[in-house]
Amino acid sequence: MIEIHDLHKDFGDLKVLKGVDLKIKPGEVVSILGGSGSGKSTLIRCINGLEKITSGSIFVDDFDVRNKKDLMEIRKRCSTVFQQFDLYPHLSVLDNIALAPINVLKQNKKDAKIKAMELLRSVELEEKASVYPAQLSGGQKQRIGICRALAMEPNYLLLDEVTSSLDPEMTAEVLVILKKLAKEGITMISVTHEIGFAQEISDRIVFLDEGKILQNLSKDEFFSDEGGKSDPRIAKFLSKMGNQ
Ligand SMILES: Nc1ncnc2c1ncn2[C@@H]1O[C@H](COP(=O)(O)OP(=O)(O)OP(=O)(O)O)[C@@H](O)[C@H]1O
Ligand SMILES: [Mg+2]
Repeated sequence: MIEIHDLHKDFGDLKVLKGVDLKIKPGEVVSILGGSGSGKSTLIRCINGLEKITSGSIFVDDFDVRNKKDLMEIRKRCSTVFQQFDLYPHLSVLDNIALAPINVLKQNKKDAKIKAMELLRSVELEEKASVYPAQLSGGQKQRIGICRALAMEPNYLLLDEVTSSLDPEMTAEVLVILKKLAKEGITMISVTHEIGFAQEISDRIVFLDEGKILQNLSKDEFFSDEGGKSDPRIAKFLSKMGNQ
């Protein structure tokens, strides 16, 4: 379980997260929605300790993000995929996926590569195993990014706008993979602007507004006229995103 309590994050004078409380249970798929600059990426980065929190607490399976000794364990449990593809350009696709399992999880090289091949097969890219990232399309890079995150056998998959730099066709390719993972029961926290996708895969929707959680509702409640949409801020956001 991920437990966030009264989380504040400031960058100098700028208060970005202003008292966020959130619990994510194993197996849940939670989408985080909200306007640009509302603090969604910052929240994701705080969970795996990429940003130092200003006050409050975050526990991942009882490991404390403020505790340096716990951070390594938290990062193993929470794999993150970002909007920008951050594959290592000098490594083949297969080595990109197998690197962290070998270095961090201390898997032997052969096993890590067998597992990496299985992951590549699951995203239908096994024929790309020996090519370098520069030879891949954006959608392919992002599918490899997801494989790399899954190779760490995380308890939680954190996704930050993984499709926002992709064209519609490539977006669809990546969303298919994520839908499959959600069905398989992985715990997923996904920041997204793909409202239809959020509606399809999520158990719960969290709406962040100016650093605070405005609504934290089951998917059905969030998208109902009496629930989330009765909040003018959310109704406006959804209509702007093309979801009436
Ligand atoms: N490292 C940083 N230093 C200073 N300010 C930052 C830093 N990272 C983020 N911010 C600021 O914090 C605020 C929230 O940023 P964040 O990236 O979390 O927003 P977001 O909700 O993910 O937005 P978007 O939808 O555009 O990705 C913004 O005002 C941003 O400029
Ligand atoms: Mg962001």
